[in-house]
Amino acid sequence: MTLLIRPVAETPHVPTIAAWLHAQWWAAGGYSLAQTESFLRQATGPAAPCALVAERDGLPLGTATFDTDDLPARPDLSPWLASVLVAPEARRQGIATALVAAVEELAIAQGVRRLWLFTPDQAPFYAARGWVRSGAEEYRGSPVVLMHRDFP
Ligand SMILES: CC(C)(COP(=O)(O)OP(=O)(O)OC[C@H]1O[C@@H](n2cnc3c(N)ncnc32)[C@H](O)[C@@H]1OP(=O)(O)O)[C@@H](O)C(=O)NCCC(=O)NCCS
Repeated sequence: MTLLIRPVAETPHVPTIAAWLHAQWWAAGGYSLAQTESFLRQATGPAAPCALVAERDGLPLGTATFDTDDLPARPDLSPWLASVLVAPEARRQGIATALVAAVEELAIAQGVRRLWLFTPDQAPFYAARGWVRSGAEEYRGSPVVLMHRDFP
């Protein structure tokens, strides 16, 4: 079956994706699981915020968000590609690549000229997909790479 990518709020997968995101990032940020779910339910797009889920045969396999803000150190930058996460058993099948492309398409459709992201350790993945390193920042006390992608 083909991969289907759509806003998670339109699917039955909000609790699953909320649990993944909460375990991966949101809990460390001091947010409850209920707050994570609430964000996903209102991140419907097409303008940011829009939280996407990738599913195959009705199973959620990954997620990514087109967001208004992401890195507290850089409130001057917007919008962002954020929260790219693929289930461990579904990795290396091109799912993150498809999710990144879907967020880029949302941004382009909104007339965005420059999209931002930050990553602690996945800069080569994004660089291989057209993203450019913009500099170094800090997130929760750890170094991260700031990157951007321009659209004509
Ligand atoms: C980073 C992450 C999102 C990548 O997800 P993924 O779905 O495995 O990514 P993809 O499959 O699109 O690409 C990963 C690699 O698999 C390769 N690949 C893609 N399809 C493939 C296939 N069918 N067979 C073999 N390899 C494949 C890609 O070429 C890529 O390699 P490259 O980086 O050398 O180009 C995932 O590992 C993850 O969720 N990590 C934890 C959270 C995280 O770090 N998120 C990013 C925060 S910035």
